[in-house]
Amino acid sequence: TTPSLLILPGDGIGPEVMAEVRRIIDWFGARRGLTFDITEDLVGGAAYDAHGVPLADATMARAQQADAVLLGAVGGPQYDTLDFSLKPERGLLRLRKEMDLFANLRPAQCFDALADFSSLKRDVVAGLDIMIVRELTSGVYFGQPRGIVEEGGQRVGINTQRYTEAEIDRVARAAFELARKRNGKVCSMEKANVMESGILWRDVVQAVHDADYPDIDLSHMYADAGGMQLCRWPKQFDVILTDNLFGDLLSDVAAMLTGSLGMLPSASLGAPMENGRPKAMYEPVHGSAPDIAGQGKANPCACVLSFAMALRYSFDQGAEASRLEKAVEKVLAEGVRTVDLMQSEGESPTSTQGMGDAILAALDAS
Ligand code: NAI
Ligand code: MG
Repeated sequence: TTPSLLILPGDGIGPEVMAEVRRIIDWFGARRGLTFDITEDLVGGAAYDAHGVPLADATMARAQQADAVLLGAVGGPQYDTLDFSLKPERGLLRLRKEMDLFANLRPAQCFDALADFSSLKRDVVAGLDIMIVRELTSGVYFGQPRGIVEEGGQRVGINTQRYTEAEIDRVARAAFELARKRNGKVCSMEKANVMESGILWRDVVQAVHDADYPDIDLSHMYADAGGMQLCRWPKQFDVILTDNLFGDLLSDVAAMLTGSLGMLPSASLGAPMENGRPKAMYEPVHGSAPDIAGQGKANPCACVLSFAMALRYSFDQGAEASRLEKAVEKVLAEGVRTVDLMQSEGESPTSTQGMGDAILAALDAS
């Protein structure tokens, strides 16, 4: 049966970058026989304008049914004064929560042509392609007890790092499954030297590996040392598995290894559905960029690369995902640049659509 894809363009530059992805999806249909049963719907401010809520129940139900969700971006200054529960971001949070997307995948991929954007030396990052898997629904951001309490005449701020075996088990499996679609290598990061949750994390990850993924090359590293190694020699890693807090920090560090926000895709995965595919939502890391919205300036690559991730991780089309990533790489190597990728005054930028045209031409030539 034809796999289903729910497309939620959202607000600001979301619809602009998604329009280019739609053309690319059409290319794969026409030229590679890859067709999807596509539904498009509203999220964020666009949903609020139409329905008075940032995510309608019907849209939520469609997301639960879809084989994958592809989202643009949400938000905008015109929604800043809305009630907290009606803000565009709540639409995104509802999707993540109700689909129970516990594994956040953040690739740090450095195309050769953009290596000079990195905060590190070219040799350290050129050709880098690693993936951080961050646990997203538990840990210290959610653990109880939490709060600010009075104690002995002063205030005390409390958060609790708390992980159950089941929570570690499921995110570990997500990382190992991913590793099988990549290079069969996982490095798990925690602080087992000073944290009980770290001891349990290491124990459960190792047990899941030994029982069901002995083919994967698994190593463990303390998260602080991991941060250091990420900046020193990031190419030693392939998949990095870590918790919510460390993943938040490490994925932001990894993002800076590669440069522009306009290039960074992401995915959030949940439990496997009946057809074996994980619940999944793919989205660029960037937001709705109101400062450039409506001007045809947005870089569509982050959203295009998010679709490539969907091809690889939801639809088992790793070769086609690589075809698309190589097309993006070729276009960058040819010097095609949206404004966010300009390095000097002399360069002339291409538009959102111009970047889409160039990627399609590169696909034609592939
Ligand atoms: P942003 O990511 O929208 O923009 C930050 C800067 O990067 C801006 O100067 C923007 O022009 C530039 N930029 C971002 N994406 C780009 C692209 N594809 N091509 C070229 N330049 C790009 O973050 P900001 O400004 O903090 O937030 C703007 C709105 O987006 C807010 O309403 C915020 O709440 C929302 N937001 C939504 C997210 C989501 O939908 N996942 C994530 C982050 C922010
Ligand atoms: Mg963060």
